[in-house]
Parts: sequence; structure tokens; C-alpha cells
Amino acid sequence: MSKCLICDKVIEPFMSFGKMPIANGFLTKEQFASEYFFELQVAFCERCKMVQLVEQPAREKMFNENYAFFSGTSMAMAIHFKEFADHVMTDYLPSDNPFVVEIGSNDGIMLQHFKEKNIRHLGVEPSANVAEVAIKKGINTISEFFDEKLAHEIVNEYGQADAFLGANVMCHVAYLHSVIEGIKILLKDNGIVMFEDPYMGDVIENTSYDQFYDEHVFLFSILSISYLFGQHGMEVIDVEPQWSHGGSMRYVIARKGARPASNNVLEHLKKEKAMGLDKQLVYDRFRRNCEDSRDSLTFLLREIKKEGKRVVGYAATSKSTTILNYCGIGPDLIDFISDTTPIKQGKFTPGAHIPVRPYEKFLVKYPDYALLFAYNHAKEIMAKEQKFMASGGKWIVYVPEVKVL
Ligand code: SAH
Ligand code: TMP
Ligand code: ZN
Repeated sequence: MSKCLICDKVIEPFMSFGKMPIANGFLTKEQFASEYFFELQVAFCERCKMVQLVEQPAREKMFNENYAFFSGTSMAMAIHFKEFADHVMTDYLPSDNPFVVEIGSNDGIMLQHFKEKNIRHLGVEPSANVAEVAIKKGINTISEFFDEKLAHEIVNEYGQADAFLGANVMCHVAYLHSVIEGIKILLKDNGIVMFEDPYMGDVIENTSYDQFYDEHVFLFSILSISYLFGQHGMEVIDVEPQWSHGGSMRYVIARKGARPASNNVLEHLKKEKAMGLDKQLVYDRFRRNCEDSRDSLTFLLREIKKEGKRVVGYAATSKSTTILNYCGIGPDLIDFISDTTPIKQGKFTPGAHIPVRPYEKFLVKYPDYALLFAYNHAKEIMAKEQKFMASGGKWIVYVPEVKVL
């Protein structure tokens, strides 16, 4: 029997994606035999509306000195985070010596903009290797997991904060109640919380089931976030949909009554109810859509293989781990996956054990088809790969549906 991580109600999974490894656990051949797996099961809680994993591996298995995701690998995301930082500075920070805390600050992709403006800042980033990159850039960073206890330590050392920020990190944290209690200790009375994460509404709309992997213990909606923060005397005062990571939502949150709430919140809540994000039925339909998507993708890849054509994967994203393992796609169907991240190159993908090669290997000999795992970066990638397309190369995508482009 499992219980909701947010409200403690008994929950039943609406689907299982089967055995899954650590999504960013790229490994060597010698490590195959000892690879860690868990069952990726997803549940919806009818009381608090939170969609969540039933089981999540221990945090140190995912976030450690070998963490393979470096935020700075996408130009478009670099611009996105500059805009995020500018928005905070312009619209939310007081002029008198403000202090900003970001959790999951990674290589400093966002905090660098506060540093440039000489704004007091602190990054909280437990994965030591990515934190090191930020520290080398002169960004004030500590390598710790944020929670209630750490919040006390931060306040003791720096005083209270005006803004608490996070991108693609809150949904990674199973112990959210401790994080929110920490936020309340850390924030000044009229301070704001601003974070963004992949959005459940987009996952349902696009059948982007690859948003479910070990790190993403939650897929948020405004419904579930309002419930969660409401339990702690806080409220959502604004929401702003984002294109990033295949569709995200940014939430602005304050202590109840401390700041006026925008009409946006009610408008979007209405939309969520119209979509049925508060009903089990939608999640059952989603499961059937996932099964159909999986069957179409494996059918297509097998047909292509039968024709003797060559398929290469483009970008060894964390999300691709769910696709490869759920669909049972291995080196028999994909020669290799090219990726620009040095720490992934020369290793094998988690579970499916497809070799990861440097990006240059893709350029040297174009495949007939490139399976685009980084579809959230499609615009940036397609602009870069004009030559591949001109030479007759085709893209395979699977979000929002399986298609050859
Ligand atoms: N914000 C960046 C990085 C997202 S990856 C971006 O959007 O590109 C998620 C990051 O959260 C990882 O670097 C991971 O180490 C960090 N993280 C995980 N749990 C955390 C916690 N409890 N406190 C702070 N950071 C955490
Ligand atoms: P993400 O989807 O989680 O942001 O991961 C992006 C991954 O894609 C990262 O491993 C780097 C890789 N990548 C490429 O290989 N080429 C590219 O052009 C881009 C944008 C990303
Ligand atoms: Zn619940």
C-alpha cells in the first residue's frame, strides 16, 4: 500500500512503465552487471490532485558528484534563464540590498545574471561536479540538499531572503513539506517564491510520458501546487506557462494575503478542470495513449530496420531513458546516440545500453534517420542541422505523436 507524499491518502498507480534505471546513470560496460533498477509506477491522488511516482530511488543515487546534466548545454535555455533572472530583478526585488536563493542552481546558468548585477545570491546545489562549475564562475554556491534544516543555517549566515527560486528542481524533491517549511523560515514576510517545472497539462496533451523518470517524482499542476502550498499558509499569486522542457509552468507564490493574486491563476485553474486534471479518468486515458505511442514507435523503428536503413539517436537526454526502456529499444534498433555532453560520451545509456558518442560522430556520417530525443530543443537543433536534412536525412519524433519529418 502506498501513500500520497503530499496529503497521506492511500494511492493506486494508474500505470507502470516497468523496470527503470537511473535516468542520468550513464555507465561503462563493467558496470552493467551491478546496474540499479526500480519500478517506475505513477499515481494520481484524488484528494490533493498530485501526480507522483510511487517509488523514487534514494536522492544520493541521482544527485552526486557524477551528475550528468549540465544546464549550460542549450543556448536557448541560457537565454530563457537570463529572461527569468531579469523578470525577478525587474518585478520582484526590492532596491535595498536584496538577497536571492536558488535551489538546483546547477552550473549557475541563472544565478550568473544576479552575480553580474552584484546582487547578493546563494546557490544550493547538491551535485558537487555541477556546483563546482558555478563556483569557478564566482557564483556563491553551497553543495547541499535544501530542506528545513539548511534553511535555518542559511538564515543564520546570510539573513532572510527576498526571493526563493528554482527551475526543474522542485519536482525532483520527494520531501517537499520540509522544503516549504524551509522556504517559510528563509523568506521575508513579503518575499516571493518563483519556480518552474514540467507541466502535467502539457504531458497529458502531448502524451509526453518521458517526463516520468526517477528524478521527476512529481508532475505538477496549478491544482496540486495550490493544495500543497495552501497546507503551509501560502498561495499561488501568478502562473506563467513556459515553452521550456516540452511545456512547463512557472508559479509565483507568497504568504497568504501578503501580495495580490493575478486573475491568471483562476483562469488557468478553470482550464485544468476543463481538461479533467482533477479526475482519475484522464490519467487512465493517458495510459492508453502511452501504450499506443510506444507501439507506434517500436513498429516504425522495426520497419525502418527491415529496410536496412540506419538510425541514430540525437541527444542522450534524461527523458530518453524512459522511452528506451519502456519501449524496449536497444542497440539492435539504434546504432548509437550522439550527445554534446563530455561526461556521457564513451559510455552507454542506462538500462538500454546504447553507446553514447560525441556529436561529431553524427556529423561524420549522417544516418538515414535521427531519432530526436531532445524534442524540447527541436527549434535550436533543426536550425543547426540544415545540412543533415538537405542530404536527405529524416527526423523521427514521438511527441506529440510518432512521426517522420
Ligand atoms: N535549474 C537547472 C538544473 C535542473 S536539474 C535547470 O533548470 O537547468 C535539477 C538540479 O536540482 C540538479 O542539479 C540537482 O542536483 C538539484 N537538486 C536535487 N535535489 C535538490 C535539493 N533538495 N536542493 C537543491 N538542489 C537539488
Ligand atoms: P535536456 O533535454 O534534459 O535539456 O537534455 C539535453 C541533452 O541534449 C544534453 O545531454 C545535451 C544534449 N544536446 C545535444 O546533444 N545537442 C544539442 O544541440 C542540444 C540542444 C542538446
Ligand atoms: Zn494527495
